[in-house]
Amino acid sequence: MPDVIENSTRQSCSLGECAEALAELEFDPRDPQSTIEAAVWLERLTNNRTFLAELLIDRLAGRTEGEVDSGFGPQAIVLSPVRGNVFLRANIWPAEHDLCFRTSGASSFVYGVPHDHNFSFLTSGYLGPGYRSDYFEYDYGSVAGYAGEPASLRFVERSALSEGKLMLYRANVDVHSQLPAESLSVSLNVMHLDPAQCWYDQYGFDLERCEVSRVLSPNATEAFLRVAVASGAENALDFADWVGRTHPSERLRLASFEARAAQAGDPVSEDSLWRKGESSGSLMVAAVATRRRAALTG
Ligand SMILES: [Fe+2]
Repeated sequence: MPDVIENSTRQSCSLGECAEALAELEFDPRDPQSTIEAAVWLERLTNNRTFLAELLIDRLAGRTEGEVDSGFGPQAIVLSPVRGNVFLRANIWPAEHDLCFRTSGASSFVYGVPHDHNFSFLTSGYLGPGYRSDYFEYDYGSVAGYAGEPASLRFVERSALSEGKLMLYRANVDVHSQLPAESLSVSLNVMHLDPAQCWYDQYGFDLERCEVSRVLSPNATEAFLRVAVASGAENALDFADWVGRTHPSERLRLASFEARAAQAGDPVSEDSLWRKGESSGSLMVAAVATRRRAALTG
């Protein structure tokens, strides 16, 4: 369950003041004092009842000079550029009866997609009753991350991110399965960036089976490796072999095996490659390798 942070101020601030203060704070979500200081700034921004409407009206009117493009789609609005190790974001949470929910479907808004996060973030309920979540916790270190792997999720509670509520979602600890808000809602986020986070995976979970269903976090390195191997260049294959044997990221090691398997050409070569995967020393690669070998012979 994300840490719930007590409200502590009735003051408000502008978006600029909040972004400025957070940039100087060097927010560390593992440090309780730093978390409280950052949360107070988020609370001040949450107390500002007009800034978001003004920003959205400016966008609707085409007054977008200096605005930050969002790479997250229309649900997420980036409010400030990355400064220091944070940026600010607003998220829109439609209700089931809202048109965008009916036309785009629940999964477009990550409703009913149980997941953890490979980053920590502070969040506040800014508008409306808020999305509801079933909250779980799990032990990231005990999970290798392959699809179908058992994951011991401990249910904590179901609750809503109501207006004014402040929470810290802890990277690779808190899992939630979101349900639609009862009416249109908005949350604000202080997103914490950690240079190492791309090597920690974000997982989707199957709650009925209590399993990892898939890796959700995108990783450009993995895509680059797959493309390089698909090109057939000899040095790319040498590099992939090195990655498959030694890289600290199990996910990248698996990508190396999958990329080479796709180029194997015949079942015997592919089986030989996956046999190496079984003894690679990586739980994630070994589990997939065993399945792939069974599929080849079955
Ligand atoms: Fe989430």
